[in-house]
Amino acid sequence: MQKTAITSAEIAPVLAERWSPRAFDESYVATQHELLSILEAGRWAPSANNMQPWRFSVATHGTELFDQMVGALTGFNQAWVPRASAIIVISILNQKPDGTPYPAAMLDAGLTAQNMMIQTTELGLFAHPIAGMVHEDMRKVLDLAENLSPVLVLAIGKLADASTLEGPAYEREIQPRVRLELDEIVLHGKP
Ligand SMILES: Cc1cc2nc3c(=O)[nH]c(=O)nc-3n(C[C@H](O)[C@H](O)[C@H](O)COP(=O)(O)O)c2cc1C
Repeated sequence: MQKTAITSAEIAPVLAERWSPRAFDESYVATQHELLSILEAGRWAPSANNMQPWRFSVATHGTELFDQMVGALTGFNQAWVPRASAIIVISILNQKPDGTPYPAAMLDAGLTAQNMMIQTTELGLFAHPIAGMVHEDMRKVLDLAENLSPVLVLAIGKLADASTLEGPAYEREIQPRVRLELDEIVLHGKP
């Protein structure tokens, strides 16, 4: 399925080509090179004060950790994530070194996630971001220290035909990608 964005102005092809599928080819084995490349892209994301508050947990299809990560997702996500080739869980430092709250870490998590998703697209693979998890379960699966919180999961793999899905996951897969118009989101100074 082709779901390249139809844009009102030219954007980098890799941005237009990225989308979040749920149909993954279960037989595809992500290579070490691909996974390292994706993680390295995440590493080079910008962060407030260059604090790099992200930590990554990687599991590949067929491993016990992969299955445990799937088990910590919410029900809808458990229906389609098992066919991904790899899962990356992004956890963030939930407090600054001085013990005060660290709200910017959540912004940084989004930036590292987007870097990884763009790199995944560049590799000809697909990444689907997922916030739907039972956080306490994921924390236990990853045996995270108290100062870390899991915030986002990336399901990574090779695109499969939408017909490999059923139910709500299939319905969402075949829907067109939509966005608000620029006029609706640019409040001031649209060129
Ligand atoms: C923070 C965040 C959380 C998301 N959580 C889920 C999720 O739990 N399950 C899911 O199927 N998709 C999830 N998505 C994917 C969005 O539904 C998807 O990005 C959005 O519909 C836009 O589609 P596109 O990525 O194909 O452009 C999430 C995306 C983001 C950015």
